Amino acid sequence: MKFLFGATLLSLHFICAYGANATTASLLSDALTSLRLTALATVIDVGGSDPRFAAFLEEVGAGNKTFFVPTKLTLSQGLSFITNIPNAVRTLQYQIAHGQIFPDTAPVSPSHVVAPSVLNDNSTVFLKGGDTQLIVATKEDDGQLHILNQGTDLVVTQSQTVMSLGLVINLVDTFLVPPGNLSAALAANNLTQFQTALQNAGLLSSLSSQRGVTIFAPSDAAFASASGVLSSLSAGQLTTVLQNHVLNSTVYSPSFGTSQISSTGQTLHMSNTSVTAGKSTAKLSQTDIGLQNGVLHIVDTVILDQNSGPSAQSGTSGGSANGAVLSMRLPLLASVFGAIVAVFECW
Ligand SMILES: *[C@@H]1O[C@H](CO)[C@@H](O)[C@H](O)[C@H]1NC(C)=O
Ligand SMILES: *[C@@H]1O[C@H](CO)[C@@H](O)[C@H](O)[C@H]1NC(C)=O
Ligand SMILES: *[C@@H]1O[C@H](CO)[C@@H](O)[C@H](O)[C@H]1NC(C)=O
Ligand SMILES: *[C@@H]1O[C@H](CO)[C@@H](O)[C@H](O)[C@H]1NC(C)=O
Ligand SMILES: *[C@@H]1O[C@H](CO)[C@@H](O)[C@H](O)[C@H]1NC(C)=O
Ligand SMILES: *[C@@H]1O[C@H](CO)[C@@H](O)[C@H](O)[C@H]1NC(C)=O
Ligand SMILES: *[C@@H]1O[C@H](CO)[C@@H](O)[C@H](O)[C@H]1NC(C)=O
Repeated sequence: MKFLFGATLLSLHFICAYGANATTASLLSDALTSLRLTALATVIDVGGSDPRFAAFLEEVGAGNKTFFVPTKLTLSQGLSFITNIPNAVRTLQYQIAHGQIFPDTAPVSPSHVVAPSVLNDNSTVFLKGGDTQLIVATKEDDGQLHILNQGTDLVVTQSQTVMSLGLVINLVDTFLVPPGNLSAALAANNLTQFQTALQNAGLLSSLSSQRGVTIFAPSDAAFASASGVLSSLSAGQLTTVLQNHVLNSTVYSPSFGTSQISSTGQTLHMSNTSVTAGKSTAKLSQTDIGLQNGVLHIVDTVILDQNSGPSAQSGTSGGSANGAVLSMRLPLLASVFGAIVAVFECW
């Protein structure tokens, strides 16, 4: 690292003639080369001078980031990857998280880090107002940092900090894949009863295309337990029940301490571990499963609340008005990002 740093300083003045983004490309390429990640270094060398890489390089150059770098990328894969620049940039943007995530100090499962990536490209991400997609990771019993919500178990095998960029490089086997659509997430998590219920109520496609949603999805076991009550509901009541599992905004577990309003206008009281509407409470069994257009949390009980906003507020069971807001803070998340940011200035 000492050698790398020295060599970088020598070349910095020259590179600065071409701007901060070119400097970042050069520092990043050098760091990757020193870690023997030559395929990705080549990707940065080849793509880095393309103007479409500028936004990505600017984010890396701003410091205080974590880069999840795939070790199994071969040179020929890298060269083929870079022939489609927009796709390459999108892919790389999802490998970069804000903040420095060190495997050693990461929160231990079931707590986890929820870190924004720098990916907000609207062909892949359908969140509100340019929000970026998230990366979720946790330290499991094996002591290693695992990236959650991937098709395969993706583990950080090695970690190194590039001081000149304030960049933590965490090595993983392959590229992280950004979250897919609601149907794919429901299927991948065996939430088949909920999926069928949404489909039958005509809600699945609208929820899949609405920007920035939160969905509390009851497990199949939860549906089995509630089958008696559910079968006694009218279609309209069932729709309201399902819509009370939905927020029109994206709320990740770090923000669970506060009350939320469901898509019908009903108040949902959130704690670290549960969600309550009216008289029905469900425990959160898994949180922060990313969706292209929001986030999914799995609950162990169907929230059998049939009240929508206005009637809930005037009814006897909704009681949202005074002081009922739970303000517990979550352990899920507050990962502390230590930050060593080296600021480079051209001279
Ligand atoms: C780096 O890229 C950003 C984003 O495209 C651009 O606004 C900025 O001007 C670039 N910086 C330099 C020095 O070229
Ligand atoms: C680093 O980034 C994290 C996450 O965005 C932020 O909370 C923290 O304040 C940043 N630290 C510095 C020194 O900028
Ligand atoms: C996506 O972003 C591009 C570039 O900013 C913009 O031209 C396009 O209209 C956007 N598409 C949607 C569906 O928002
Ligand atoms: C959802 O994603 C799956 C898997 O990528 C895909 O096969 C399916 O067509 C998508 N559905 C919609 C409605 O876009
Ligand atoms: C889904 O169910 C299958 C078959 O029962 C099981 O092998 C798999 O582990 C389950 N997946 C999840 C995410 O629970
Ligand atoms: C949530 O969004 C749906 C679909 O756009 C809309 O019908 C509903 O009124 C919204 N609910 C709230 C509380 O804003
Ligand atoms: C909720 O989070 C707070 C703060 O992290 C913690 O002290 C408390 O034990 C948590 N409550 C539960 C029920 O886990």
